[in-house]
Formats: sequence, structure tokens, C-alpha cells
Amino acid sequence: MNIYDNPKLKIDSKKEVNGTVGWKSPSNIALIKYWGKYGNQLPLNPSISFTLSQAYTQTTIEYKQKKKDNGKIDLDFYFEGKLKPDFARRINKYFKNLKEIFPFITQLKLEIHSDNSFPHSSGIASSASSMSSLALSLCSIERNIFDTEISTKEFFEKASFIARLGSGSACRSVYPKAALWGHTEKIPESSNYFAIPVKKHLHDNFRKFHDDILIVSKNAKSKSSSDGHAIMSSHRFKDGRILQANKRLYFLLNALKSGDFETFGEIVENEAFTLHGLMMSSSPAYVLMEPNTLNIINQIKTFRKNTKIPAFFSLDAGPNVHLLYPDAYSIQVQKFIDDNLVRFCKDGDYIKDYMGTGPKELDF
Ligand code: PMV
Repeated sequence: MNIYDNPKLKIDSKKEVNGTVGWKSPSNIALIKYWGKYGNQLPLNPSISFTLSQAYTQTTIEYKQKKKDNGKIDLDFYFEGKLKPDFARRINKYFKNLKEIFPFITQLKLEIHSDNSFPHSSGIASSASSMSSLALSLCSIERNIFDTEISTKEFFEKASFIARLGSGSACRSVYPKAALWGHTEKIPESSNYFAIPVKKHLHDNFRKFHDDILIVSKNAKSKSSSDGHAIMSSHRFKDGRILQANKRLYFLLNALKSGDFETFGEIVENEAFTLHGLMMSSSPAYVLMEPNTLNIINQIKTFRKNTKIPAFFSLDAGPNVHLLYPDAYSIQVQKFIDDNLVRFCKDGDYIKDYMGTGPKELDF
């Protein structure tokens, strides 16, 4: 039983319902990493992220009431204009799990179009942006058909809950600037079920942050995040990791509030290494970093030491490096990237991203 299960959301068979909805939703970069889950996509530890802007997915759903509700999910999925039956099967499975929350879903024929702002083969994880844009679109269908009267806060909380069921990290993408997912005693409104915004906890130093994503490899990862989460449930360092993430969250929140770059950098960089350390010490062990991941990291450390500019690295579950720094230093960092980092990037590619204002609903 989910908190959002609602058998009342069935379309009156006398009605003729159709329409189009859509959302553009960004990716996010975790500062405290979510790694490991239990139950129905619940996190082993709380996580916090900056919401991005340039790396996003745009999803539209055209819905039309079927003649008869046959209890089945009926959808076509187009990715970048092309019909993708394999993706459609994954979404079908996801939607099946949402039948109690959105009982109308089996009454509709759905045509879903999804486009990423970043190339599919850039090695950038798209699950956060794609699942959040899909979840937001489903919530918009509900609102359009049933005139559901809920506040903006409730709308995004529900979208975050739905996004979480598709991909854990996606639940953090529905808020501007920064989001926290997972229960922590420090923030009473925090929850394992959905993310909450943390914008109000941000010092001015952290309100305009860049995240340039240096593409080290464009290949598909040798191990998926789902495999990584699964391996965590029997990881020998599991308990220690949960304790560490909770403690770090507390210190990171304080740093974000007080504008403390040094503590921020120390925690964020160590989180990146911890994530990869957990992979390298798991059973089976695996490595997702590549030689150029370390070359870039070493360059960033030297740059920071020499210039005193608060520029820090982070890593997702892959070899690409995220370079985080405040807007005030963008000219110096740009030059540093061009002079010292581009040579380590695959085809010289990197994505200039920055903290964003959150998802946007599309007009139809
Ligand atoms: O949302 P998933 O299942 O793709 O997991 C993402 C995990 C990390 O990106 C490594 C960390 C995070 O918190 O985003």
C-alpha cells in the first residue's frame, strides 16, 4: 500500500478524455551520494544534490481514452523521434507498478516522446532527468483529467514520490537549486519516500554554482547503478557507510548554510571517492574510473592549490568528472578547462552545466 494509492482516480466511462502534457526536467549531481536501497526503492542513506540545468530530458505524453479498459498498459515510446520497443518495455513495467496510484493509466492509450539535451552516447546518466520528466507528466495528466486540487508543494512531492519509483536519484530533480532525499533527524520534514527542496538552506555562496561535466568516456557503463545498489545490500562496509553518510549530511548542510567552501569541498570530493571506493571494495569488485578520470582530478587539485579558487570534483557512478565551482570564478575556470582538462576529455567534449531553476511544464 502506497501513501498515494487512490482508487477514485478512474475516468467516468461516459467522458471522452484526451490531451497532451509535457515537462522538461533536469539531471542532478549528488553531493552526498545515494548508494544502496531497500524495500520499494527506499534509500539506505539520505542524499543531497544540486539540480542542474543544461542536461535535461523533455517528455511529452499524448493520452487518449481507450474504448475499453482492458487492465493493460498501452503505450508507444519514442526516443529522439524513433520508436523504441525496448525502452517501452521498461516503461511498461514501471507504469504497471503505478496502477494503484494512477488507476486511470490502464484506461488510456499513451504516446510518449522523450528527448535528451545531451547526446545519448555522452556517458551522461539520463535516468534522473528522464524519470522525473515522466513522473511530472503523469501527475499533470491526473491534474488535467480530475482537476485535482492540490498545492504546488503537494504536486511536486507526489511527482518526486513517483519519480523515485522509476529511479531513486530522479526524485531529487523536481526542485530548483538543491534537494534532499532520505530521512534525517536534522530536518523533520525529510522523507525516504520523496525529496524535499533545500533552497532555503543555501548561503549566497552556493546559489550560483557551476557543474561542468568533463566527458572521459562515452561508452555504456560496465555495471549499471541498479547492480551497484543491489551489491550494497551485502557490502561489508554497509553499516559504516550509512553512518558516514548521515554524519556527512549534517556537516554538509551546515557548510551550505554558512557558505563554507572548504568543508563543502572536503565532503563532496570524499563522497565521490567513497562511492567509487565502495565499488572497488564490493564483491564482485569493479572499477568505473578511467586513467583520464584521475588525470582530471589531479589537475583540479593542483589548480585549486595554486589559485585558491574553490573548484572541486565530483563523480557519478561512471568515469566522467563533474567540476563544481562558484559563478564568480567562471572566467578563470573556463581558461583552466581549455588549457588543462580538454585534452583528457573524449573528443574534447564537456558539458557546461550549472545549478538550475528546476523542471518546467510545457504549454500545449
Ligand atoms: O538513481 P539511480 O538508481 O540511477 O542511482 C544513482 C546513484 C548515484 O548517481 C551514483 C548517486 C546519486 O545519489 O545520484
